[in-house]
This record gives sequence, structure tokens and C-alpha cells, in this order.
Amino acid sequence: MKTIVSNIEENDDYNKIIKEAGEIIRKGGLVAFPTETVYGLGGDGLNPEASKKIYAAKGRPSDNPLILHICDIKQLEDIAETDDIRIKKLAEKFWPGPLTMVLKKKDIVPKSTTGGLGTVAVRMPNNKLALDLIRAANTPIAAPSANTSGRPSPTNGKRVAEDLDGKIDMILDAGSVEIGLESSIIDLTGEKACILRPGAVTKEMFEEVLGEIEVDRVVKDPSSVKEGYKPKAPGMKYRHYAPKAELKMFRGEEKKVAEEINKLAAEDEKNGLKVGIIASLETAKLYVFGEVVVIGARNDDVEIARNLYEILREFDDKKTDRIYSEVFEDGKLAKAIMNRFSKAASNNIIDIL
Ligand code: TXA
Ligand code: MG
Repeated sequence: MKTIVSNIEENDDYNKIIKEAGEIIRKGGLVAFPTETVYGLGGDGLNPEASKKIYAAKGRPSDNPLILHICDIKQLEDIAETDDIRIKKLAEKFWPGPLTMVLKKKDIVPKSTTGGLGTVAVRMPNNKLALDLIRAANTPIAAPSANTSGRPSPTNGKRVAEDLDGKIDMILDAGSVEIGLESSIIDLTGEKACILRPGAVTKEMFEEVLGEIEVDRVVKDPSSVKEGYKPKAPGMKYRHYAPKAELKMFRGEEKKVAEEINKLAAEDEKNGLKVGIIASLETAKLYVFGEVVVIGARNDDVEIARNLYEILREFDDKKTDRIYSEVFEDGKLAKAIMNRFSKAASNNIIDIL
């Protein structure tokens, strides 16, 4: 299949492109588009054929449900039960934005979109292009992150093309995204709201609106999957976001962490392995082996979140064998950053005492 790649920033025919993209979706085709979190791979969320194509293009297991993206609150009524005051409160506070709500679905939403579940995940993204596209398509757009299943999510159009060129109808390339990590997911189908995936809307922000809420066990303790716990967001059980290299993280006093990483990197290089190191602006100078990449200043969680996936993909490009990284546990986005980072590292976090 020939994929049309439209570079939005360099094209002044915006309305024409959006119209064309909307038509592709309406006819059951696939269009990748930017959101404020990561790029999404979009298809008509009410058309089972379109969702089949999404799973095929990504190589995604079909039990892992898709998020439906809407452009206004009226669209929510069509696809989900909304007589729960918590929905209204959260929508008013955080939509459009990096928040996905899991709700009871209406019959119009095919089970092929929801991985066979009776619930549906819904989000209103905070990105003009995404909202215009949903409006043009005139249907909720089902969109997982626009990566091959298992790879880090794409945060710019080039990375989308790398994974999906030739497999989908169109890519709308608008450069780099704002946040760089996927939305927060909250389950509202139970009595107590429960966070299924941490993101830019934090537990504290949810609790300001809802009072005390829960956090799914797999978010608190990722190793619970190995012990047989089934996460409520089916996607959280997969080894996501993974680079090809073996990634290990180290927690502890910065000089001691650097000392340990230097020792391991020296040994690896002696053995002919290609080593990458992910460091902060402040600590980069402590490393003497491997290729050192600065992810951001220690306390700049916004920058760290924005750079994470691209750095992992760059190490893939360079065919890096091993990556060593510090941990990044400061700031509002720290939970989301460490959730993705530690998954990429298969929970390989070593405490240096
Ligand atoms: O920021 C985002 O949410 C991005 C952009 C494109 O909007 N999308 C995204 O989609 O991250 P995806 O498919 O990569 O991740 C969706 C997650 C999966 O872990 C999936 O299991 C979970 O949402 N999910 C979807 N529907 C669900 C449902 N009905 N119940 C529980 N979890 C659900
Ligand atoms: Mg994904």
C-alpha cells in the first residue's frame, strides 16, 4: 500500500488535507495523526473492519482494546453510559487533555474495538489537528499509539513512518508532540475510581476532583503481572515501550551510580558491546565510557518525558547492545516516566547502596 505522508507544517492546504484524511477514515481506512501525548493510528471506531486493520498494521494482540477519541462531549453520549457525575466533573476539568476514561459502552461500539470488553476507553485529545480530524471524519476515532506493537510510542511523524509506512493510508506529520507519554487512564466503571495507567493527569489531580481514588495493582507493583495478576488495562501486561537493547536502571547517590555504570560500561566495551548511557544534564560529566545522552535537567520532568521514547529509538538506530540509565523520580510526571521507563527495562532497577 502507498502511504500518503502530509507534512502539515509545510503545507498551507490544511483544510483540504483534513477533509481528505476524514474521508479516508469514513471509508474504513487508517490515518496516523498527532495528539498532545503521542501519535495515534486512527480508524473509524464504530467500524469493525477498521479496527481489524489497526490491529493488523500494528501487529497488536486483539484482546488489547483501543481508545476512542472524540471531539466534543455530545459524541460521548453516543458511545458510553454517562449518568455518573464523576464523568462530567473530570471532563470539565481535564478535557480536552491527556485523560482517558474507561466507561460502560453502548451497543453501537463494536466489541472488536474494545477487545471483547463491555467497557470503552474514551479521550478528547488537546490537539487542534486531532480534533479537526475527528470532526471531519464525523465518527469517534479509535487510535492506539502509532507504533509497531512492543516498540516505544512515536513522538514525531518520522517515527510513525518508520513503523507504519506502506501499511496505512495516510500519515499527518506535524513534527514533535508536546507531552511525549500516553494519557492517564482512569476506570470509572466501579464504585471507586481507579488509575489503570499513570500519565500527565496525576493521582493528586484526580483526587482534587473526586476525593480518594485507587491505583491498579500493576501500576503500584509491576512484578504482580509475573505473579499472575491480570491488569485491568489489558495493554499493561505486555512488555511495552521496549528498546532492542538490554536496559538497566540504577537508583542511588549520583556519584555511586556513575561509578557502578562506569564499571559495567568499561567491561562491556572491552567485550565489544555497544553501550549507551542515559544521564541528566547535571550528571552527564561523570560518565567516561559509552555514548552518553542527556535526557534533561534532573528536575525537568516535562523535558524528560518528552525525550524518553525518542532516545530509546535513537539507541535502536545505533544498534546499541546495552543501555544504562539513572532513575528519574522528581516532579509531577515522575510516576508516568518511571512507569514507562521501568517497563522498557523489564523492571530491572538496581539500588546502589
Ligand atoms: O495518549 C494516549 O492515550 C494515546 C493517544 C494516541 O491518544 N493512545 C494510547 O493508546 O496510548 P494505546 O492503545 O497505545 O493504549 C491504550 C491502553 C491499553 O493499555 C489498553 O489496554 C487500555 O488503554 N484500554 C483501552 N480500552 C480499555 C478498556 N475498555 N478497559 C481497560 N483498559 C483499556
Ligand atoms: Mg501503545
